[in-house]
Amino acid sequence: MVKGILEKYDRLVPRYTSYPTAPQFHAGVDGSMYRDWLTSLPEDMPLSLYVHVPFCDTMCWFCGCNTKIINRYSPVEAYLETLLREIDLIADILGPKRTVDHIHWGGGSPTILRPDHIRRLAGALHNRFSFAPDAEFAVEIDPRDLGDDSLRALAESGVTRASLGVQDVNGQVQRAVNRIQPVDVTRHVIDTLRSLGVDRINVDLMYGLPYQTVEGMKNNVDTVLTMQPDRLSLFGYAHVPWMKTHQKKIPDEALPGRDGRHDMMMTAAGGLMAQGYRWIGLDHFAREDDAMTRALDAGELHRNFQGYTTDPCPALIGLGASSIGSLPQGYIQNHTPVRTWRAAIEAGEPGIAKGVQLNDDDRLRRAIIERLMCDLKVDVKAVCEAYGCTPETLIPAFDALKPMEPDGVCTIDGWTVTIPEHARILMRTVAAMFDKYLAPDAQRHSRAV
Ligand SMILES: C[S@@+](CC[C@H](N)C(=O)[O-])C[C@H]1O[C@@H](n2cnc3c(N)ncnc32)[C@H](O)[C@@H]1O
Ligand code: SF4
Repeated sequence: MVKGILEKYDRLVPRYTSYPTAPQFHAGVDGSMYRDWLTSLPEDMPLSLYVHVPFCDTMCWFCGCNTKIINRYSPVEAYLETLLREIDLIADILGPKRTVDHIHWGGGSPTILRPDHIRRLAGALHNRFSFAPDAEFAVEIDPRDLGDDSLRALAESGVTRASLGVQDVNGQVQRAVNRIQPVDVTRHVIDTLRSLGVDRINVDLMYGLPYQTVEGMKNNVDTVLTMQPDRLSLFGYAHVPWMKTHQKKIPDEALPGRDGRHDMMMTAAGGLMAQGYRWIGLDHFAREDDAMTRALDAGELHRNFQGYTTDPCPALIGLGASSIGSLPQGYIQNHTPVRTWRAAIEAGEPGIAKGVQLNDDDRLRRAIIERLMCDLKVDVKAVCEAYGCTPETLIPAFDALKPMEPDGVCTIDGWTVTIPEHARILMRTVAAMFDKYLAPDAQRHSRAV
C-alpha cells in the first residue's frame, strides 16, 4: 500500500464487532426488554455464552480491555458469587435447559479465578445449560504466574481452546508496557495445556507498542511459531489515553508512527503467511486446516465482540459486568461498575445498562459490513435480496466509495464491492461507508492502521 494513501485513509473508525456500534447503545433498552427478548427466542435455537471476568493482577499499560487491578482475591470471589446468581437468573428466564454451542470466557483475565472457582463456574454453566457434544469452550489466558493446577481445572472443566496473551517477547518492550513474560512461561503453559488435551491454541500478538521494531516483530513471529499455535491474532495497539488513562504511562516518543506500525504489521503478517498461516479478516491468522480457514472459504466466517469467529449462532448471551450480548432483536450490555451490575442481579433483574434494538435497515447494513470485514468482498444486491429489499437505498454508500476507487482502496463492479489484498488493513474505512450512524469524526475510535 502506498504510504500517502495510508495517510489519507487512516481515519478514526470503529472495529465493527457489532453494527450498530457501541456509541449507538442507549438506556432505552433495559432489563425488562431483555427479558422479553430472551423469552421469545425459539426453544430449539442453540445459544452462545460469553462470560466476562474483569480482573487482573497487574495492569499492562497498553490495555484497552474492561478490567480492574486487584491485589486481594476477595473481590474475585464476591464477583463469582454474583456471576453464579446471574447464570441462574438468566437460565430461569430462558426456561427449559438450553443447548449451547460456544462458550467463551474473556476479560480481564478469567485465569485469575482459583482452580476450585474455575470448576465452580464451569460446573454452574454445565448445570444450567446443555453443552453440545462438539461445543467449543474457549478461555482467554494470561500465562504469567499461572499454576498447573489452574490449567488442570480448565481441562477438567471441558475447555477446548485456549487463547494466550503474549503481545511481544522483547524485554525492552515488555518493560515499557509493564508486562514481563518470559518465553519459557508461555511455552510451559502451552505444553501443559496440550498434555492435558486442550490442543486448540490461539496466541495474541500486538504491533504498535513502544520500542517495537521491524526486526523485533520478525523475532516475535519466529519465537511464537516454535510453539505452533493453530491461530494467532495480530492486534494493532489502540492508543486511546483519553479513555484509558493508564495508557498515558506509555511515552509518546517511544510509539512507532503510522509507517512504522504498517511495516511491523506487514512484517509479522508476511512471516506468518510464509509459514503457512492464512490472513483472516483484519487481524487473525489461522493454519490452512483450521476451522476458521474453512469457515472463511465457505463464506461462513462471522464477526462478533470476540473478533472473528466460526460461531454462526444468532443468540449470544453475555454474563458478567460490562459483557455484551447479541440477540436476533438487538444488542444488550450489562452495567460496567460491578456494584451496579450486582445490585440488579441481587434484586432479581438482569443487570442491563443499555443496548440497541435492530431495525431492518440495521440488519441489512450489518450483514453487508460483516461480509466486507470477513471476506473483503460483498455482493450488495445479493445481500439485499436475502433481506427482501432492493439495493437502491444504498446508493449513497456507493457514492461515498467511488472516490476511493482510484486510490486502490476498493473496486466496484455493479453492486459488488471488493477490497484488494493490498488495502486489507483499510477494510474498516470501506465498511464505514455503509455505517448510517457514523458522523465524520463525531466519535472517537482508534486509528485504522
Ligand atoms: C483480555 S486480553 C487476553 C487475556 C489476558 N488478559 C492477557 O492479556 O494475557 C485480550 C487481548 O487484547 C489485546 N489488547 C489489549 N489491549 C489492547 C489495545 N489497547 N489495543 C489492541 N489490542 C489490545 C491483547 O492482545 C490481549 O491479549
Ligand atoms: S492485557 Fe490482559 S492481562 Fe494485561 S491488563 Fe489487559 S486484560 Fe489484564
